[in-house]
Amino acid sequence: MRIIRCKNYDEVSEVAARIVAAQVTMKPDCVLGLPTGSTPLGMYSRLIQKNKENKIDFSNVTTFNLDEYFPISRSNNQSYYYFMFENFFNHININKENIHIPNGETTDPEAECASYEAAIEAAGGIDLQVLGIGQNGHIGFNEPGDFLESTTHITTLTQSTIAANSRFFESIDDVPKKALTSGMGTILKSKKIIILASGKAKSEAVKSLLSGKITTQNPSTMLNLHKDVTLIADEDALL
Ligand code: PGA
Repeated sequence: MRIIRCKNYDEVSEVAARIVAAQVTMKPDCVLGLPTGSTPLGMYSRLIQKNKENKIDFSNVTTFNLDEYFPISRSNNQSYYYFMFENFFNHININKENIHIPNGETTDPEAECASYEAAIEAAGGIDLQVLGIGQNGHIGFNEPGDFLESTTHITTLTQSTIAANSRFFESIDDVPKKALTSGMGTILKSKKIIILASGKAKSEAVKSLLSGKITTQNPSTMLNLHKDVTLIADEDALL
């Protein structure tokens, strides 16, 4: 795993935005795998800026988001659908038909997951997957446990994730208990992966990721099986 050590969050965001921009410049019709969360916000705002300055063209780019709460309405301002349009897609020249986010409104989550997985395959797979990392080492909503799932699936959030995400909801009881998420296999099939980490709260998960030991108790450690992963982390996350 390559490690890019950054001074702070701004530098993490800048480095990540440059890598995404380089990917889109090299392959204008590339497929990007995208995360939500607080961490990628700085990267998204820089990509919006580059798009406004005509330094990056998203018109032929296809995107697949990692995950979505379930069940949740797309108009709910805590849905990842809402988050992505609010913080990124509404501000760039992407073709809206090329945007894919697991549908948290579905009445048949298993079918939704199967067709999501098939759509990634049909698009030729993900060229560059951008990841955040949970305090418990989750990536997407692949939570620590006795086993991990390979393909896109419905999952139950851990208490740790519900607690971490409750900051965005009025109360902890409002956090959905389930989610639809790309599986570990879906993520590991990406041609290239960057994983962003900022802040002390991530340092334990990052330490375990960098130990090289693979455990289902920290799903991010599976990234050690991939040949092209770059960790972009600030000093606090690398403590
Ligand atoms: P955060 O979430 O960026 O809001 O810390 C990361 C994650 O849970 O994957």
